Amino acid sequence: MVLLHLDSSILGANSASRQLSAAAVERFRKQVPDLEVTYRDLAAEPLSHLSGEHFAATQGATPETPAVQRDVAVSQAVLEEFLAADIVVIGAPMYNFTLPSQMKAWIDRIIVAGKTFRYSAGSVEGLAGNKRVVIAVSRGGFYGAGTPAAAMEHLETYLRGVFGFIGVTNLEIIVAEGLAVGPEQREKAMQGALQTATGLRAA
Ligand SMILES: Cc1cc2nc3c(=O)[nH]c(=O)nc-3n(C[C@H](O)[C@H](O)[C@H](O)COP(=O)(O)O)c2cc1C
Repeated sequence: MVLLHLDSSILGANSASRQLSAAAVERFRKQVPDLEVTYRDLAAEPLSHLSGEHFAATQGATPETPAVQRDVAVSQAVLEEFLAADIVVIGAPMYNFTLPSQMKAWIDRIIVAGKTFRYSAGSVEGLAGNKRVVIAVSRGGFYGAGTPAAAMEHLETYLRGVFGFIGVTNLEIIVAEGLAVGPEQREKAMQGALQTATGLRAA
């Protein structure tokens, strides 16, 4: 079984989402002895933004420069890494009401027509439905239903939409929120989320 572990927080050792994603991966490691884990740190080694030349190359144009050739090769590797994974664990912090731009750059590499989705008979068909995706979301404030900031939640809702679009139905989102409210709330939220992460079942 192959697990792809992604982090995107810029806060290094102080990151809540990194702590949660690591706990989830550790839990899977304990349950699946021969688990093969691939790790990608999207903040430490950011992918470049999608460019016009890159997009043209994905549509069949020959890459014109060595830089675009390299970028296309990286993209293919990122996509294959995602396609090969049975489980994907993602650390997803909220920055400015949505996902880190480094994670958006990764999503731009995996939403690929013919690979992870296709249009057929006027509707969309997701092609990546064979995976389990676990996302550890960390937020400074509160965004639950009925809260004043609920309409500004563009992280969890966006990720649910994206993974749904490519066919993932086995999606679990672990949330730690209110982390910037104060130490007590942070401790409480992290304990709750860590408990969920360490209670994940591999099968
Ligand atoms: C650049 C930046 C922007 C942030 N923007 C928001 C925000 O829009 N809403 C929010 O609730 N918290 C926001 N926060 C707080 C983070 O969501 C919170 O610190 C969370 O723990 C980040 O996850 P991480 O520790 O894994 O990086 C922001 C933090 C940073 C560093």
